[in-house]
Amino acid sequence: MTDRILSPKPSEDEGKFELSLRPKRLAEYIGQDKVKQNLTILIEAAQARGEAIDHVLLYGPPGLGKTTLANIIANEMGVSIKTTSGPAIERPGDLAAILTNLRAGDVLFIDEVHRLARPVEEVLYSAMEDFAIDIIIGKGPSARSIRLKMPRFTLIGATTRFAMMSAPLRDRFGAIYRLDFYDLGAMKTIVQRSADLLNVAIERAGVEEIASRARGTPRVVNRLLRRVRDYAQVRADGKITLAVAGDALKMLEVDRLGLDEIDRKVLRTIIEKFEGGPVGLDTIAASISEEADTIMDVYEPYLLQLGFLDRTSRGRVATRRAYEHLAISYPNTEQERLL
Ligand code: ADE
Repeated sequence: MTDRILSPKPSEDEGKFELSLRPKRLAEYIGQDKVKQNLTILIEAAQARGEAIDHVLLYGPPGLGKTTLANIIANEMGVSIKTTSGPAIERPGDLAAILTNLRAGDVLFIDEVHRLARPVEEVLYSAMEDFAIDIIIGKGPSARSIRLKMPRFTLIGATTRFAMMSAPLRDRFGAIYRLDFYDLGAMKTIVQRSADLLNVAIERAGVEEIASRARGTPRVVNRLLRRVRDYAQVRADGKITLAVAGDALKMLEVDRLGLDEIDRKVLRTIIEKFEGGPVGLDTIAASISEEADTIMDVYEPYLLQLGFLDRTSRGRVATRRAYEHLAISYPNTEQERLL
């Protein structure tokens, strides 16, 4: 009955490509050095004591490796991992079914943990704290509560929205780590590693070109690498040179800073339709026909990091840098800005 809630392991061919690029051990994992150091200690200490590790919360923008790290933790601990997501667990009974099927030490990975339904979340509190849950059997006067015990497991939660998590849930994680965008050095190492795994020839300048246009995000860099590799195969001799990478990325409409069509649409909308802002997120979303959540989770974090966007209490504002990047002249006076 938990099949509906748990994500299946990808079959041999589907997702094989993607999975083969994912590191399986901490030692293979590139970047996020602080998180890696802290995780190493957490894992080694628990192993030395022969215990399950504390519950771990990973948060940060999408594509930075939260799921990968959860799988690595389970691998390093030598335990199984069951994967699900906040919205997939609809009722407390769903959660009870998953929890009672875990073995001692197993990892339960809940992605988008900020989207758990409130009644489910409340059951999770006692599971995390006491490794037991109380469930109500029956209805009306004959209803009674029974206590279900479960083995000591490790919950790994992942979220792109730390602020949306309730305080009681946050407080029940013993280790909380934030993942950040990767620096250029780490991104280059990831491109080279992935290219080696895919058996594709790539020049140093090609590595740098792809790495620098992937917005500090491994998921993006691996996607770009695959598309550039296709281009190299079809339009060149298969080798990724600087020129090949540049031409392929141009065709993909990924610019020098890694912004794509939608990033630029967000900025242009604020600048051209709303005089540079402030304008509300929902208004931006409606005018470019995207989900507000997608803009907030996927696009905004990098635009904020680049300093192209400001979040103010009255809405989003495009900065001078955004105008410059899009080659739109910045209104110099307050009056010009309002015109
Ligand atoms: N592939 C995707 N993310 C990675 C990372 N952080 N280290 C190594 N390979 C990766």
